[in-house]
Amino acid sequence: MARVFVTGSSSGLGLMAGELLVEQGHRVVLHARNPARADETRRALPQAEAVVVGDLASVAGARGVADEANKLGRFDAIIHNAGVGYREARPMKTEDGLPHVFAINVLAPYVLTALIERPDRLVYLSSGMHRGANARLDDLTWTKRAWNGAQAYAESKFLDVLIAFAVARRWPDALSNALEPGWVATRMGGPSAPDDLDQAHRTQVWLAVSDEPEARVTGKYFRYLRQRAPDPQTNSPELQDRLIAECGSLSGVALPE
Ligand SMILES: NC(=O)c1ccc[n+]([C@@H]2O[C@H](COP(=O)([O-])OP(=O)(O)OC[C@H]3O[C@@H](n4cnc5c(N)ncnc54)[C@H](OP(=O)(O)O)[C@@H]3O)[C@@H](O)[C@H]2O)c1
Repeated sequence: MARVFVTGSSSGLGLMAGELLVEQGHRVVLHARNPARADETRRALPQAEAVVVGDLASVAGARGVADEANKLGRFDAIIHNAGVGYREARPMKTEDGLPHVFAINVLAPYVLTALIERPDRLVYLSSGMHRGANARLDDLTWTKRAWNGAQAYAESKFLDVLIAFAVARRWPDALSNALEPGWVATRMGGPSAPDDLDQAHRTQVWLAVSDEPEARVTGKYFRYLRQRAPDPQTNSPELQDRLIAECGSLSGVALPE
C-alpha cells in the first residue's frame, strides 16, 4: 500500500486518480484550491486521508501547499496533476505578475517538487500538445511576444516534461516521469473531447504505485501505460537545466540537489 498526494484533485483527472487509488487500497491525500472546494472534495471522496488547501496560482500559495503537505508526513508518490487550460484568450497575470498558465502549470509543480519532502516517485501531467511546442525559454513569462493562449498551454506542458526529466537526472534515488492522458471530456477537455475518459487517469496512478517493471523507470514519457517518444527537445540536459534555473530565479526556491 502506498501513500500518494495528488494536486488539483477537487475534480477531473485528479479526483478520478484519487478514487482509483482508494479503490486499489492506497492512502490518498487530495488537494483543493480553497476551503469551499476542499469541502466538496471531502464529500466527493470521504475515504481520502486529508485534503490540503491552497491556491497554486502564486508562489506563496504553492509554498503554503508544500508546508501543509509536509505537515502530513512523507508521501511515497506525488502526482503533479493540477492544471489550467488553453482557453485563456487574454493574458491573465497572477499576483506575482506572471502568466496564470505558466504559474499554475509550471512554476507551481516546480515549487512543490523543491519544497515537499522527496517522495520515491514523481509524476507530471503533460499533454500530446507538448510536441512541437518549441518553448521559448528566453520568454517564459510572455513579455517579448504577443499572447497566444494555445501556445502558452502547449509550452507549459512541454516545460512539465522538462521538469520531470530534469528531476529524473538530478535525483537518481527517485522515479520521475511525465505522461499525456489523452484528450478527454473533463471540464478542461470540453464535452466533445474524443479520447476515452476511463483510460485517462490510469497512467498517473500506475506510474505512482505499480510494481510492474514497466512502471518502475525514470525519465520517461507515457500514454495509456506505454512509453511514448516525447518531443526530442525535452531530452536536452541544457534545456532542462535552464528551466530549473529560470524557475529557481522566478520563485526564489532552489531545487535541492
Ligand atoms: N482533459 C484533457 O483532455 C487533458 C489533456 C491533456 C492534459 N491534461 C492535463 O491533465 C491535468 C488535469 O486536467 P483535467 O482535465 O482534470 O482538468 P480539470 O477538470 O479542469 O481539473 C483541473 C484541476 O486543477 C485544479 N486547479 C486549477 N487551478 C488551480 C489553482 N490555481 N490552485 C489549485 N488547484 C487548481 C482544479 O481545481 P478547481 O476545480 O477548483 O478549478 C482542478 O481540480 C492537467 O494538468 C491538464 O493539463 C488534460
